[in-house]
Amino acid sequence: MSDQDATGFGDVYHQRFTVTFDYPVHFTRGVFSPQSETLARVIGRRGDATVHTILVCIDSGLARAWPALAPTIEAYVHRHASSLAPAGPPVILPGGEAAKEGWVAVHETLAHIGRLRLDRHSCVIGVGGGAMLDMLGLAVSLAHRGLRLVRIPTTTLAQCDASVGVKNGIDDNGTKNFAGTFAPPFGVIVDFDFLRTLAPRDWSGGLAEAFKVAMIRDAPFFDFLCDHASAFAARDAATQEAVIRRCAVLHLDHIGQGGDPFETGSARPLDFGHWSAHQIEFMSHYRIGHGQAVAIGLALDAHIALQTGLVASADFTRLVRGLTDGGLPVWDSCIEARNDRGELLLLAGLERFREHLGGALNITLPVGIGAKREVHVLDAIHIETAIQALRTLS
Ligand SMILES: NC(=O)c1ccc[n+]([C@@H]2O[C@H](COP(=O)([O-])OP(=O)(O)OC[C@H]3O[C@@H](n4cnc5c(N)ncnc54)[C@H](O)[C@@H]3O)[C@@H](O)[C@H]2O)c1
Ligand SMILES: [Zn+2]
Repeated sequence: MSDQDATGFGDVYHQRFTVTFDYPVHFTRGVFSPQSETLARVIGRRGDATVHTILVCIDSGLARAWPALAPTIEAYVHRHASSLAPAGPPVILPGGEAAKEGWVAVHETLAHIGRLRLDRHSCVIGVGGGAMLDMLGLAVSLAHRGLRLVRIPTTTLAQCDASVGVKNGIDDNGTKNFAGTFAPPFGVIVDFDFLRTLAPRDWSGGLAEAFKVAMIRDAPFFDFLCDHASAFAARDAATQEAVIRRCAVLHLDHIGQGGDPFETGSARPLDFGHWSAHQIEFMSHYRIGHGQAVAIGLALDAHIALQTGLVASADFTRLVRGLTDGGLPVWDSCIEARNDRGELLLLAGLERFREHLGGALNITLPVGIGAKREVHVLDAIHIETAIQALRTLS
């Protein structure tokens, strides 16, 4: 559209186009068993080639827990040789938060992609936890401005949240997720079988994200979580599947239908509890995992909501009981650490969070169960009171 700008800025041509993104999210088991067609179908879903060049990247922690995984994947690829052509053997990439510590792993992954001469139609398959997938997603989105990425998440948190969305990133400049891109995956395959080797911490992590999204969006799911948190902690398979599916779908719905998939506005409802969670991870030098930090962050913000009349005392208590029944903490002494002037170090999380969002501070607080409200200020007194309350509870 070309028009003469009445304000005197001359001739303006307004560029405008729309790009549609779509990707399947499969929930399955045995993705690398010889008879499974899921991965081969996802890779070939565009029908734009007969044979697809692929590179499989495996999380180092996962590889340790599953020593036969790399040969199993090679056998799978060999069996599907009519449609899958490996650019090289599976590569092991660092797992856990170390993967996101600066640019080292991103550079090494890019160098590997370059050496194997992958092109924009090649498909990288990432099998691992949320941290490794965040790092890999960034590298893959940068190589030739973006290759195809199929994510196969292997922790509860990655399956119900981190892998199904459009964000990736690494920690830099002393800030979590400072460097990253928005890059939707080519496909996601959630394979519940991988979960059985998870350490207790990584087992319960996903439950925190489920409580997060349930408390602000889905009251029946919140009830379900409160009733089944102990079964989740006891690794009941049916409960685990139900929680992961519902949590993943709620995240997908928010991204697909919430009107701001690439977060250009400043509201970030799915980051309920996260302004403090990211700061807690940072202050604890990542001793506290993301899911555990989110659980403490939810309890803090829910208590602030309680103090401001947004949430009833009974609902706050249900949240805390649900989190703890599920094996999650609502307290760590690092949240009351102070600087020389006696100020809470946790408060630095607010400014970091605002910077990350852009614009004004937007904090999502729950309103009852299943609804939310954005607030633009958090009163330091309310934060202090919430910390005291959580200390007493612990
Ligand atoms: N991109 C997003 O939208 C998004 C959303 C939420 C969280 N995240 C990020 O995800 C990260 C946390 O992810 P996480 O909770 O998956 O933790 P993680 O990736 O750190 O994995 C935890 C540990 O488990 C190991 N592991 C992975 N799968 C395993 C398995 N099946 N058996 C045994 N060990 C296994 C890993 O090597 C690691 O040591 C954080 O960095 C967080 O910021 C990203
Ligand atoms: Zn999170």
